[in-house]
Amino acid sequence: MDDPVIEKVTVPEGGFWPAPEIARPNIYPMEWRVETDKLAAIYEKSKRAVWNPADLPWDGIRPEDFTPEQRLGIMYWFSVLANFDASGPAVFARATVHAFEQHEEDPVRKCFFSITRDEMNHEECCQRTIARLWPGGPLDWTPRTELEKAAHNNISWLYYNGGRYWHGYNSAVGKYPLAVLFTSFMMGEMAASTLFRGMASGTRHPVFGEMFQRIGRDESRHLQICMTILDKEWPGLTEEVKEQITRQLRAGFVFLSMILWEPPEGFWDLPPYFLANHRVLMDHARDAGLGVLSFEEQAENWRVAIARVRAIVERWGIPFPAIPELDMSGVEVEFIDPEDIIPVF
Ligand SMILES: [Fe+2]
Ligand SMILES: [Fe+2]
Repeated sequence: MDDPVIEKVTVPEGGFWPAPEIARPNIYPMEWRVETDKLAAIYEKSKRAVWNPADLPWDGIRPEDFTPEQRLGIMYWFSVLANFDASGPAVFARATVHAFEQHEEDPVRKCFFSITRDEMNHEECCQRTIARLWPGGPLDWTPRTELEKAAHNNISWLYYNGGRYWHGYNSAVGKYPLAVLFTSFMMGEMAASTLFRGMASGTRHPVFGEMFQRIGRDESRHLQICMTILDKEWPGLTEEVKEQITRQLRAGFVFLSMILWEPPEGFWDLPPYFLANHRVLMDHARDAGLGVLSFEEQAENWRVAIARVRAIVERWGIPFPAIPELDMSGVEVEFIDPEDIIPVF
């Protein structure tokens, strides 16, 4: 066959036909609009900061260095962490798609993608640690002792609640304005960076030390991303949106306290023995040298992190919710249902 003859372009009589309008929300048409140079710079930095969890010195985590209770405790802690960090990839992947559909500027979409990438690494740390210390964990193993049965049962209740959150999050993504979504993310990242900073300084184990430091660095970058986006989103918020944010902040506290401190009343649907067993298991993780802070230290850390969030949002005239659990006064927010929960790590 001969090559097609290349001629001049065809110009229809009466001019070119305009393409039909694209139904929204839609990821088309393609575009690379940049409004916030700072976000573009953070994305560049994030590409250079990528690390590989597989390269951590995993041989240094030796099951024989721990008692069975300590191994169970560490597995339990990482299973609780996974309720947050292992939901990260799916949560931010969805947020990334949403940002494309809403035609957010290019650096917003790229930063969301980079958070998705990082969260996949954090998830991998949960996966690898559990595989080394408790094969079959979190749930695919048969508990034998009372302690094991308590751990297995607590984890299954925890993930049942995670499932309720996922349900709510799915509907929230399309429902809330971006300022609300990002404020929730910001609270999650503040919590995450606080947690890992505390754990990195508390752990007696070099491999966990390196892991927590790397994850903590990622979380601080996520926080920076959220803050940069919010600087753009916050000016000119309506009273209605501000109210939603106040509610979200309370929801964030209730949800994130499970890993930062202890689960408060409100959202969590748990059996009456959950907390007592949770404390025993956390204590085994603490005893193993993982770096789990004491109840009081956790409360203090969480209080400081929340005070930071509070200072930031109040600058924009957003009322902060009361956190009586940590003796912080503010606006009363009553019932939190799964639909209210957005924050991740
Ligand atoms: Fe994060
Ligand atoms: Fe994370």
